[in-house]
Amino acid sequence: MTAINRRRALSGSAAVAVGVPILAACGNGSASTGSTGADGSGSSPSGSGGAAGETLATAADVPVGGCFVVSGAKVVVTQPSAGDFKAFTAVCTHQGCLVETSSEGDIPCPCHGSKFSLDDGSPISGPASAPLAAVDITVDGDTITRA
Ligand code: FES
Repeated sequence: MTAINRRRALSGSAAVAVGVPILAACGNGSASTGSTGADGSGSSPSGSGGAAGETLATAADVPVGGCFVVSGAKVVVTQPSAGDFKAFTAVCTHQGCLVETSSEGDIPCPCHGSKFSLDDGSPISGPASAPLAAVDITVDGDTITRA
């Protein structure tokens, strides 16, 4: 009897132990796959594994006064004013979630509510305190590519 109860208890706790790390992963399904993020010890912020010439977006994808997240490239392209495009890493400097596409005048992070500047990626409100690293881009007509 005791042995059976013990096995049940152990298998029950094993299931809980397996479940916790899955639940502890970031709420945004596309964020922080293997990157440490929180302490900045992950990959270089502006490198993000992309190649020069990689197409990121078209001008129409990026709202004026807003931003467009290219999830695969982990880059956020912004358009602070009409025809003025900038890009930053989309990996939040707080705990590594991907920021979100928005037309609300900033770059929001869905995980804990940080907001970053469309102009320079600097944090507007926390908990993030470090800026999003700039990504060099080229705008050729309607196409925005990684420089
Ligand atoms: S990971 Fe972005 S605010 Fe926490």
